[in-house]
Amino acid sequence: MPQLSTGIRIPDLAKYKAEGRKITMLTAYDASMAKLLDEAGIDVLLVGDSLGMVIMGHDTTIPVTLEAILHHSRAVAKGATRAVIVADMPFLTYQVSAEEALRNAGRLIQEGGAAAVKIEGGIAAVPAVQRLVAAGIPVMGHVGLTPQFVHGLGGFRAVGKTEDEAQALMRDARALEEAGAFSLVLECIPSRVAEAITRELRIPTIGIGSGPACDGQVLVSYDALGLYPGFTPKFVKRYAELGVELTRAARGYAADVRAGRFPGKTAPAMPELVATVSGMRELTAKARREGRSVGLVPTMGALHEGHGALMDRARGETDFLVVSIFVNPTQFDRQDDYRAYTINLDADIEMCRRHGVDAVFAPSAAEMYKPGARTYVEAPGVSDLLCGQFRPGHFRGVATVVAKLLNIAAPDRAYFGEKDAQQLAVIEQMVSDLNFPVKVVPVATVREADGLALSSRNRRLSTEERRIAPVLYRSLEAGRERIAGGETRAAKVKEAVLRQLAEAPAVRVEYIEVVDAAMQPVAEITGAVRIAAAVWLGSTRLIDNVPCEPALAALAGSASQPHRMRE
Ligand code: PAF
Repeated sequence: MPQLSTGIRIPDLAKYKAEGRKITMLTAYDASMAKLLDEAGIDVLLVGDSLGMVIMGHDTTIPVTLEAILHHSRAVAKGATRAVIVADMPFLTYQVSAEEALRNAGRLIQEGGAAAVKIEGGIAAVPAVQRLVAAGIPVMGHVGLTPQFVHGLGGFRAVGKTEDEAQALMRDARALEEAGAFSLVLECIPSRVAEAITRELRIPTIGIGSGPACDGQVLVSYDALGLYPGFTPKFVKRYAELGVELTRAARGYAADVRAGRFPGKTAPAMPELVATVSGMRELTAKARREGRSVGLVPTMGALHEGHGALMDRARGETDFLVVSIFVNPTQFDRQDDYRAYTINLDADIEMCRRHGVDAVFAPSAAEMYKPGARTYVEAPGVSDLLCGQFRPGHFRGVATVVAKLLNIAAPDRAYFGEKDAQQLAVIEQMVSDLNFPVKVVPVATVREADGLALSSRNRRLSTEERRIAPVLYRSLEAGRERIAGGETRAAKVKEAVLRQLAEAPAVRVEYIEVVDAAMQPVAEITGAVRIAAAVWLGSTRLIDNVPCEPALAALAGSASQPHRMRE
């Protein structure tokens, strides 16, 4: 039932506005998620009719019934103790008459445990709002893109772009406030219109795709947490990739059951530590004799969750997982960089344990490079561009050590991060040219919440440099947007990236390139490309890249997506 004393109360939300504190709202549909969001301090949990799409798999919110919202609202009310629970009134539960709206809203409060209801629509919704408010049911209004009215709106589109629409929105907002709504959701309306409404109203506005000026923000939790496999609107920021994590965990479980590892020991065991080439060979040969597939994640230690993602992927796809930890001297073009590359082997092994690694291969430099070693692997044409121009010999060292690791561990699959896209291209070229019987598996870049790609080198940034560093990703995103918007000239894309980078004078640009799948720079964008860049911040070199689809392909892709409606 609604919390009346220990939780947030609806009048508190008006105080938020008066005090300039932003209101946070997320959708919730079940008790467990509601509990977690409540514990995270989210102010308002909306049992949204978006559940029609993210829970029930419909293409719109229109099929959602009162019974469905009631069912989920009861669950959310069980999980949350602090947040205000608002239940969406589904399509046709408030339009027929004010009396019927009251009966339906009453059930959401009485049986569903909600503290308030949300109704879509402007002036037309006023009689229902007045009736509910008079009966003591707090109402949140909702104007702009109102998905239940999608057919009348003529599709899923932003509202308020013309002067007439903006004025109508303002009239709707005033009428709802006048009718007694305690708050108003503004969905997909231009920022300046949302700002004007927010200034005009005494009640707080809560925006979704309506810019930063609203008194609060709401997102569909499945979008924000990366749980919805369908189309995600552009304004959504993903705070996690729980969908990826969930698939990984399920794969891990399936692999454990199939390999007889579960049921059994619950805590992952310490990986076996191997320091010799012969020891490593024997271990993987034994695994293969037992019919187990072998996965290899080559690293230089200083492990972070980017490596964690490689291990997780490998854990889910192979039976015997080896992580190599070897700071390879031959791939450093500068001695000072090599000396500065320190690792903590114990911490790295512990991380490997947590990710269920079976063996850590940590040889010494003397074990890997016997005196007199003189054979190197090179992939000219891939390794001498981009980073290769600035780090002579680097990719020769990488290709050589990876060739050695593949020969020693003989994995079925080897995992590399897309963050080092050029390294990946060099390795793919080498594996193909030299017929290594291994599948190279690329794994998407893992980023901090502010966009900075995870890298062992991030540890070297000062506090101030760390604050500035996400500009690199923002700039690449600016380039990606240009491509998505139809720009096909690489020079123009690079200009857009540079313009954004110029925001941070502390950043020194080494290169920015638009490259094809083989990492070859292109002048004209005709297919999928990457924008790759290397910059310096103080004495730290950062590299990053983003994959980009040209506008036409992007359009063709999105045309097949269902329209995304939301509460
Ligand atoms: O990406 C790295 O950490 C290294 O370049 C690699 C692939 C382990 C080779 O030393």
